[in-house]
Amino acid sequence: LGLPRMYHERVVDHYDNPRNVGSFDKNDPTVGTGLVGAPACGDVMKLQIKVDDSTGKIVDACFKTFGCGSAIASSSVATEWVKGKQMEEVLTIKNTEIAKHLSLPPVKLHCSMLAEDAIKAAVKDYQAKQTKSSGSTEVSP
Ligand code: FES
Ligand code: FES
Repeated sequence: LGLPRMYHERVVDHYDNPRNVGSFDKNDPTVGTGLVGAPACGDVMKLQIKVDDSTGKIVDACFKTFGCGSAIASSSVATEWVKGKQMEEVLTIKNTEIAKHLSLPPVKLHCSMLAEDAIKAAVKDYQAKQTKSSGSTEVSP
């Protein structure tokens, strides 16, 4: 008569074996870096995306999180969800979806918020880089 399992095993696995831990070169023009912090607890999350310039598709993602287990698991899920998607598409990822996926309790909602914010910040960083490089490069015919 146990409680039904509301999550599949791989969700729990995000706590024990986070996916895509690492860093890309933040100066690489195809990389977007999102660095965000949670004022309440001081935890920090860095999430990076690698984008295919011609299609706008996110081809790879990684993260480094100095924070609680829920923040680490949330970043892990976030990197899995953004891979292979268009940039506009990942802007619609909501922290509540991540929280639901990991069955996070309400007190841990802000941990998943970090992941949503980090995705948005990474896309913004990538886009800012594109405007900068197209503005500053002189192309001679
Ligand atoms: Fe990995 Fe769902 S278990 S994203
Ligand atoms: Fe603050 Fe999890 S307790 S990010």
